[in-house]
Amino acid sequence: MKRGFFITFEGPEGAGKSTQVGLLLEHFRQKGLPVTATREPGGTELAEKIRAVVKGHDGAERMHPETELLLMEAARSQHVREFILPRLEQGVSVICDRFSDSTTAYQGGARGLCRAEIAFLNDFAAAKLVPDVTFLLDITPESGFARTRTRSETAGEFDRFEAERIEFHRKVRRCFLELAASEPDRVRVIDADRDPQSVHADIVRIADEFLV
Ligand code: TMP
Repeated sequence: MKRGFFITFEGPEGAGKSTQVGLLLEHFRQKGLPVTATREPGGTELAEKIRAVVKGHDGAERMHPETELLLMEAARSQHVREFILPRLEQGVSVICDRFSDSTTAYQGGARGLCRAEIAFLNDFAAAKLVPDVTFLLDITPESGFARTRTRSETAGEFDRFEAERIEFHRKVRRCFLELAASEPDRVRVIDADRDPQSVHADIVRIADEFLV
């Protein structure tokens, strides 16, 4: 049986990843491709519990960057083995909202942890799984936040990452763009500061190359 495709979406806050994941999922379904969507951190019962811990505020006790890194990797380890790999092996394509590149950009680029150690842990947690294609939805922190702030304010709270200063998010974006420059075949940069349908049209053009 042919293995499913593994497609990831990456980008700073407010880039519209979840909207685009939903639109691509629908596009693949209409083509009759077996497909599912998931997210990181999360995607299984246990990994969703880790998500709540890692995104939540820690009260008086500050979460250290190393702890944050290991929680992200623990969630990934569970998600890859429990959810993603079994589906790929059954021929189901998996679209994932964030994956290892987010760890490189957030815990590496922005928190400043050692990139070589992160690369090792990413491989270990992901069982060396690498996406077939990654859509990097690129947006400036200013534009991205204009979107999320409205959403988070409505929900009444910023998570620990949204609450970081703008400089943190500039570093995240810079690191994502560096990753794309170093792996241009896998990581495709999409200008996300446009209406969702135009963004979707660009994604579909690239994704359809894979639907052979
Ligand atoms: P989101 O998917 O709703 O944007 O929330 C996930 C948050 O977690 C987001 O701020 C990025 C952050 N994150 C990391 O810092 N490292 C990671 O490895 C992943 C997957 C997410």
